[in-house]
Amino acid sequence: MKFKTRIKNKAYAVFFYQTNLGEFVGLIYNYLKYKSYIFNPSKLNVTEKENLEHYLIKQYHIIEKGLSLPDVRLGFGRDKIIALLDASFLYMSKYGNSKLMSAISSTLKEYVEFNDINNHIIDSELKKRIKEFFIATTNDVDGGTKVINKEKLLLDRDSLKCGLITTRHSVRVFSGPITDVNKIKSAVTLGKRAPSVCNRQGWKVHYYNDDKIIQKILSLQNGTTGFTDQINDLIIVTADSKAFTSYEQSQQYIDGGLFSMNLMLALHSESIGVCPLNACFPFVVENKIKKVSNIPDNEKIVMFLALGEMKDDFKVAVSVRKETNEILRIHE
Ligand SMILES: Cc1cc2nc3c(=O)[nH]c(=O)nc-3n(C[C@H](O)[C@H](O)[C@H](O)COP(=O)(O)O)c2cc1C
Repeated sequence: MKFKTRIKNKAYAVFFYQTNLGEFVGLIYNYLKYKSYIFNPSKLNVTEKENLEHYLIKQYHIIEKGLSLPDVRLGFGRDKIIALLDASFLYMSKYGNSKLMSAISSTLKEYVEFNDINNHIIDSELKKRIKEFFIATTNDVDGGTKVINKEKLLLDRDSLKCGLITTRHSVRVFSGPITDVNKIKSAVTLGKRAPSVCNRQGWKVHYYNDDKIIQKILSLQNGTTGFTDQINDLIIVTADSKAFTSYEQSQQYIDGGLFSMNLMLALHSESIGVCPLNACFPFVVENKIKKVSNIPDNEKIVMFLALGEMKDDFKVAVSVRKETNEILRIHE
């Protein structure tokens, strides 16, 4: 190896593995890369198909979710629907109809029917736009909400074919607080079977059932509009930064996310309804939440889980999934 190349490699090794600055530069690099791929709702571009599709999924799910809330507000989400329709027409102008358009159409169909049944008159401009969209699309893909029967769900859950995974849904309406804290303990015992980097198990579970604390936390978390009052039990999953080392920042979320998924399934197996909640806020909000919820500074909040006992019958958002071939690429 040439002298010049050897010096260059050595300098790289020192900078990236032995200085904090090296890791900091890596963080900025990853951040800029991330920023270069994400979508911007105020600058939607018809040529960026995947960005546009993900924006559309985000936007129509707001309506689906709204329809599954315990107290659906008549005529809710007008501006959001207008934005959804604008983007949908933009999408169709280049890509035509698709499964996604059909799911949006089904969701809007339920929205219109819900308002009609409850004698709420949707304003004429919105109605006209929705009608145009219905004419341009089909609604053969499910969207909106579906009704769940707890007895049937639990039966399906136990059957080998469906198992736990296909019967889990995000639940945003509960019959009441969790009746037995042992269910939480059993679920954590099952959940901790999740894999983790070097089996370090850097996760922590904080469980709350004090209404005042929960309401304070949720007012900061900001993702439970329309069902905050349903939530009497809350879990915060964190990753203990002390369990990780250089270049493992994202491992906190990977391990924390895998664990959270296992925990959600375990809670479901205890017949507890669960809705995962995001932790997408600036560090100042995170610090406030940590203070209210008594979480030490060395723990990073990964996500929240709203919990409750299941009602006998309840609605959940359909949240239709992509086709397997859109996700799986077999490299032969
Ligand atoms: C990390 C994460 C954060 C989420 N945040 C919220 C949230 O803040 N509010 C909410 O109502 N749903 C939230 N959800 C629920 C998603 O909307 C839901 O998981 C998705 O639509 C799939 O539906 P399913 O869970 O019923 O299968 C979140 C889900 C995940 C995985």
